[in-house]
This record gives sequence, structure tokens and C-alpha cells, in this order.
Amino acid sequence: MTIAPESAATESGRTGTARHFLMCRPEFFTVSYSINPWMRPEKGADAATALRQWESLRQAYESLGHRVSLIDPVEGLPDMVFAANGALVVDGRVYGARFAHPERAAEGPAYLRWFVEQGYETLEASFTNEGEGDYLTLDEMILAGTGFRTDVAAHMEAQEFLGRPVVTLRLVDPRYYHLDTALFPLDGRNVAYYPEAFSEGSRRVLRRLFPDAVVATSADAEVLGLNAVSDGRNVVVNAEATGLVLELKRRGFEVVPVDLSELRKAGGGPKCCTLEIRTGEIRVSGEIR
Ligand code: ARG
Repeated sequence: MTIAPESAATESGRTGTARHFLMCRPEFFTVSYSINPWMRPEKGADAATALRQWESLRQAYESLGHRVSLIDPVEGLPDMVFAANGALVVDGRVYGARFAHPERAAEGPAYLRWFVEQGYETLEASFTNEGEGDYLTLDEMILAGTGFRTDVAAHMEAQEFLGRPVVTLRLVDPRYYHLDTALFPLDGRNVAYYPEAFSEGSRRVLRRLFPDAVVATSADAEVLGLNAVSDGRNVVVNAEATGLVLELKRRGFEVVPVDLSELRKAGGGPKCCTLEIRTGEIRVSGEIR
């Protein structure tokens, strides 16, 4: 399935491009440890609800014309559903993750093995980094978070391997421990973000790079509204982020609301569940450009 030609551009002229995503069914999902402030092991989480919500996310992608590949979940790795953390893929080159916390360490090799088996060129990272949780790719640069998980040395390593400039941004609020909890690309050139999640210097960098950014409020950030996935036209976003949803519509985006409240108990949203496989091919309305 691909994005229907007649619906590929909105009235505002926004064009969506078909994506290839890797996802992992939350079969073994639970909250049994705490490595971020959202996680309350004493409260737990319901795998069946998580699975149902995750299925609706997957269906949303497929109905938009995106391709979804699946990696097998591993028992004992409850956070493996958060595929974004598994790697960073740019131009078909796969930079492997190396997790900060021992609870998730085994996920790095599991994801890298999947890519090796599919025949991708891979690099095993020498420095701590949590994949697309902390690296968000734009046309001319990769934005990279640090402060809680990903080491700045990994920013340089990714730049060397991928050949795209990496811009370091410092995260300062433990609730927004990954870059993708506080910022998402609207398209290849612009972003939406929550300024208070960043250091003063990084806020100035963001204002300079993205004077036309969508600036989100604390209410939108607190429901993980910034953990969204845009194809340039359609934005898959937590429904509770009502202010953000309105602003996206005002700017001519098509909003696809989802409910991932059960996964939020582990500190994750739609983007966390989604690893983009960027091969360098761009499909618009089903055509290869
Ligand atoms: N419980 C996971 C952790 O703290 C959630 C990861 C969410 N993923 C993301 N890309 N932000 O590592």
C-alpha cells in the first residue's frame, strides 16, 4: 500500500513521503524496573492493553501507506517495544545502539542482528547511545540529544559513520530523558519542540536553526505529545496533546491521533515504538524519486 496520489498533498501543499518502519510487538511488556521518572514498577502495566494500543498504531501507519517490518520480541526485555532505541538508520547505514542501563543492554545486539540478517551495512557503537531516541534525522543534519542517556562522543561517532552533520542538544529535565520525548521533525527542515526540556544554550541553538518551529506547551509535553511521527504531511500523535494537535492542523498537517496511554507508563509514545529505516529512496505517492 502507498499514499494515494490524489491525497498526497494537503491544501497547504504539504507532501507526505512513504516510510519504512521497524516495530516490535509488546508481547512481554510490563513495568518491572524504573530507569526514568514515568516508570512505577509498583503500579505495573497491562500487556494486553499495550498490545491493543500498539496494534492501532501499526494500523495507523499501514493505512497511511507506510511499510512496517517486525522484529521478534524477546522475553525478559519489556522495553524492547520501544524500537526507536534499537538503532539509527540513515542512507541504509545502521549505527547500532549501546544502552545506558544494564536492564536494556541486550536490546542493542538483538536489533543489530536483525539488520545484519537483512543485509544492511552496520556499525557496532563504541559509545553509549540509544538510537533514534536521541538522534532525529533531518535533510541536512541530525539532531542529537545528550544529558541522560547518549554520550556526546557517540554524536561524533554517528557523524563520522553517517556523513551528516550532527548537532548536539543538551536535555535538562529527567522526564524528557530522550530527545524524542521533547522534539520531533515536522518534515526534513522544521521541528516541533518543548523548550523547557533543553539547556539555555541549546534553546538558543534551536531558535536559530528553526525560527518557524512549533513551540509546544508543558501540557502537551506532559502527555508525551512531542513523541510524534510525521511523514511531512500526516502526524501520528498522542490524542491527549490537544494544544499541539490544534497548532498542527492550523499549519496544514493532517493529524492522526492515537492512544498509547499504557505504553506511557514506561515513558514511551508513538515515536518510541517506531524505528525508521531510511534507505535514501524517497517515495512520493507511491513513486520512487
Ligand atoms: N522505558 C524506556 C526507557 O526508559 C522507554 C524508552 C522510550 N523510548 C524512546 N525512544 N523515548 O528506556
